[in-house]
Amino acid sequence: MSNSESLTKMRAVKVAPSILSANLLDLGRQVCQVKEAGADLLHLDIMDGHFVPNLTFGPGLARALMEIGLPLDVHLMVSNPGWAVEAFCDYAEYITIHAEATPHLHRLLRLIREKGCKSGVALNPSTPSDFLKHVIDEVDLVLVMTVNPGWGGQSFIPRMVEKIHEVKKIACGAGSPVEIEVDGGITSGNCCHVIEKGADILVSGSYIFSSQDMSKAIKSLRGSTVTRV
Ligand code: DX5
Ligand code: ZN
Repeated sequence: MSNSESLTKMRAVKVAPSILSANLLDLGRQVCQVKEAGADLLHLDIMDGHFVPNLTFGPGLARALMEIGLPLDVHLMVSNPGWAVEAFCDYAEYITIHAEATPHLHRLLRLIREKGCKSGVALNPSTPSDFLKHVIDEVDLVLVMTVNPGWGGQSFIPRMVEKIHEVKKIACGAGSPVEIEVDGGITSGNCCHVIEKGADILVSGSYIFSSQDMSKAIKSLRGSTVTRV
């Protein structure tokens, strides 16, 4: 192996298609297609019309999606999300709440774990990574928003690359492993930059669901050979 080869290795990142960008009239078929195409998780965006100015899905859809056989990655974009943790915990592998959405972040992260799910904390683009320091031992996942939450199909905010690096450093100091997820505007054009900085899970909506070949799209996100940090 040459020196440059030994400095690089294939990162086994997970890909989580966001069904927000699926054709809702054809949802059953499309989620089966992303599973066949190699998705690792299904990302379910829950919006309450208050924390973000949009409304999406309820726990009935999460229950129905369990039949697909992919772990559910539930992203709660809701204010005071305690009730939603209770509503989704029977169906989710991961439940992620926003740092900005509650004054009781520490308690709710503990609640998610008590309910048997992996706990995630999401940071909006304007929220500093320092926010994490006091809750890092309570989290299994940090979601770095790379767009402002509320809609699919927005453009990736390049300055968030630096934040992923900061989060990675904080995560390395945690008592147990913490995964880093990125969400918003992720494509084959920017995935290498976020993987290089430490992203383990890539959420992608419009890039995957608008592609002609979902399998190829997912491979193009996952198959990047990059330098680890
Ligand atoms: C935005 C959502 C994202 C969104 C990603 O608020 O959290 O999960 O669906 O979609 P794309 O990949 O199209 O930005
Ligand atoms: Zn999301």
